Amino acid sequence: MIDKIIQIGEENQFLLKEFLLANPIARINFRYFEKRNLSPYLLNNHIVTNLYYEGIVCVGYGHLDKDHDIIWLGIMVSDKHRRMGFGNFIMNDLISNKNADSIYLSVDKTNLSAINLYIKKGFKIMEEKSDIYIMRHHKSKSK
Ligand SMILES: CC(C)(COP(=O)(O)OP(=O)(O)OC[C@H]1O[C@@H](n2cnc3c(N)ncnc32)[C@H](O)[C@@H]1OP(=O)(O)O)[C@@H](O)C(=O)NCCC(=O)NCCS
Repeated sequence: MIDKIIQIGEENQFLLKEFLLANPIARINFRYFEKRNLSPYLLNNHIVTNLYYEGIVCVGYGHLDKDHDIIWLGIMVSDKHRRMGFGNFIMNDLISNKNADSIYLSVDKTNLSAINLYIKKGFKIMEEKSDIYIMRHHKSKSK
């Protein structure tokens, strides 16, 4: 059970770096930080940047990144803790953010675990590109 959420900022970014380094398998599908430098400047655009803990063990990461007027969701569960309900918890936490009525994400078409999770949480496919879907969750339009 997730019992602690740590918000990441300039002072504790090292925790996020450690989590990313410790989970190379999850990073195959979660490539947000492969394409960007982890810097205070980057995190400044985020509505939330969270690490999720079960006791002292970090089991997952989630963010809401505001790019102009669009809010993008990012999620990653630790390689050793998948399929234990943590993704579900993190999605609920991010979706319930009061500053985010409409949330977008992009997902590899082959990433069926994530797609299943997103559909379960009320995300709908808005756009299809060659290898990814763009999905959206809108509070007033989903349960
Ligand atoms: C996608 C991810 C976040 C799911 O997290 P998780 O903690 O394993 O998911 P949960 O245990 O909370 O499962 C929630 C739902 O997700 C779906 N799901 C999760 N793993 C699945 C799998 N291996 N196969 C099919 N569906 C799966 C199911 O719908 C599941 O509901 P159910 O248990 O009632 O069937 C996790 O697998 C992950 O971090 N993957 C690597 C990084 C990544 O892909 N990030 C997203 C990039 S867009």
